[in-house]
Amino acid sequence: MNPDDMVQEARRILQLNDKGHYTVPTHGLYPFQWNWDSCLTALGLQQLNEDRAWLEIETLVRHQWPDGMVPHIVFHEPNSGYFPGPEVWQTERPTPTSGITQPPVMGMVLEQLWQRSAQSPVVRQRCLALMQATHAWHEWFYRCRDPQGTGLVAILHPWESGRDNSLDWTDALSQVPADAVGPYQRRDTQHVDASQRPTQYEYDRYVALVQAFRALRWDSRLLHDASPFQVVDPGFNAILIHSDLALARLAEQLGEASLATQAHARAQRGIAALSQLWSDAHGQYVCLNRKTGQLVDSASVGGLLPVLVLPAEHPHLPHLCQRLAASLSLAPFGVASHWPEDPRFDGRRYWRGPSWLIVNYLLIKGLQASGQHELAGRIVQASLNCIEQSGCSEYYHPVSGEALGGGTFTWTAAMVLEFLEFHQPA
Ligand code: DGY
Repeated sequence: MNPDDMVQEARRILQLNDKGHYTVPTHGLYPFQWNWDSCLTALGLQQLNEDRAWLEIETLVRHQWPDGMVPHIVFHEPNSGYFPGPEVWQTERPTPTSGITQPPVMGMVLEQLWQRSAQSPVVRQRCLALMQATHAWHEWFYRCRDPQGTGLVAILHPWESGRDNSLDWTDALSQVPADAVGPYQRRDTQHVDASQRPTQYEYDRYVALVQAFRALRWDSRLLHDASPFQVVDPGFNAILIHSDLALARLAEQLGEASLATQAHARAQRGIAALSQLWSDAHGQYVCLNRKTGQLVDSASVGGLLPVLVLPAEHPHLPHLCQRLAASLSLAPFGVASHWPEDPRFDGRRYWRGPSWLIVNYLLIKGLQASGQHELAGRIVQASLNCIEQSGCSEYYHPVSGEALGGGTFTWTAAMVLEFLEFHQPA
């Protein structure tokens, strides 16, 4: 596929998965609106129709909870092809939603949309409203997911990380009791080969956590302390910090000085706190199991994502760049989601090895901001090689480039447009 064909294909997929006011990640496997999928998709939509891009995020924000949380799934219409559906979550929202959240890329995306827009008064109003919603969401994070004020937030469910079955969660997940889960029918493996999806052992624990939170009636004030799973993920925190930095810049431009100050302060505290997650042994960041107080011995791409927020002179940055370059040498089709030399690496199984274009995108953004253009260019090229060889898939085998997971995938298509338009290899 040449670049023109890639653009045509990406546009076709964005239209194929467009439900008018939101997009589905792909038909069949994911038939609703997902939080970070939608936000990243808005970047691609802006190239087709700017109004539609803002609407994508407005639709998501319309389902923000009164306490500020933006849920990870909005179940706009019934669909029996997905598990767990609204009847399992029972969150009692006017339009059903899940009861957990997802990586907060919204602030980052708003800044991009605004910068690339005509910046008319109408767009300014839309942007301001979404900015306030994002600010409330970020306040919710530090209030409800960092009750001790450490500067870093915890995820309470692997699905919140976006990196569902990462090896980062193995130890913490083993502490989740799943004996009383009861029978249920998975749907994901009816759409995608089971060897590319989480195991049954993991699904039992995913469902057990949903049941535990449901029993607390999804009261965010209770969930953190009650959860048997509390993990501080460097990738998730880097995304939140990055979004806060973007929010601070945007608020400054739009004349919201107080919001800018608050977002900036949150981000600076977060950057300082990230050093708690540094592992000399791995030469990168790792997760912290907040239940045990132990760092997790697992080198995933989550620990490389702090390139998003580290200033160019930060002493950890050269180590992360080295890791990224080494990973690309071992597995050239994008950045592997887990360190390729770990014996547990599995190049076909979801977040245990495969590469993802949206993660590549985040890494590229961070590298470009800190002047690492050559490495950023290598990741752009590696991403486009996946598309050229295998089309717009959910994820890719990082060694062979094989297409894996769902097909005709929306956020992958959005990233293709992003790379070809704004991030050409150096
Ligand atoms: C799934 O169902 O696999 C999703 O990733 C959960 O958000």
